[in-house]
Amino acid sequence: MEKYKVLFVCLGNICRSPSAEAVMKKLVADAGLEREVEVDSAGLIAYHEGEQADARMRAHAARRGYRLDSISRPVRYADFERFDLIIGMDVRNVEQLRQMAPDVATSEKVHAMMEYSRNKLYDYVPDPYYGGASGFELVLDLLEDACAGLLERIKQERLVLADKPSLT
Ligand code: 4NP
Repeated sequence: MEKYKVLFVCLGNICRSPSAEAVMKKLVADAGLEREVEVDSAGLIAYHEGEQADARMRAHAARRGYRLDSISRPVRYADFERFDLIIGMDVRNVEQLRQMAPDVATSEKVHAMMEYSRNKLYDYVPDPYYGGASGFELVLDLLEDACAGLLERIKQERLVLADKPSLT
């Protein structure tokens, strides 16, 4: 079966979406699903293209055992074909992604990160870039909750797909 491909998207691809990528990759690895699920991240602006994740974000993530090793890149049109799920961190990200989507089918792949939250304390992941340490911790708290919910949803979806009788 083809891998299930998830793309996390924020504004700069140096704080929230690289963290989502790292949190999700760890959950996927811990569940032994690395061969089933592929995870990547991108940004809506190219301003930080080629850069490592923000040093503050990397430091906060490292304290929880996450290594942020992605390099910032902008979202590409081809991503809408390639990925099964494209997840924006906040309402603006989701709106911009839907506007960018080449057609209706691909725009339906766009969802908000906190749709997958289990405790529903927030409905978006706030941008930590201009704030202090607590903002980076909040990002990680929200992502740990929402990525766990996302993995459960993917597992359910994959089970349903696996059970479907072949049409050929
Ligand atoms: P991110 O945070 O979208 O979570 O990566 C930001 C990074 C950079 C900027 C804004 C937000 N910026 O304006 O450069």
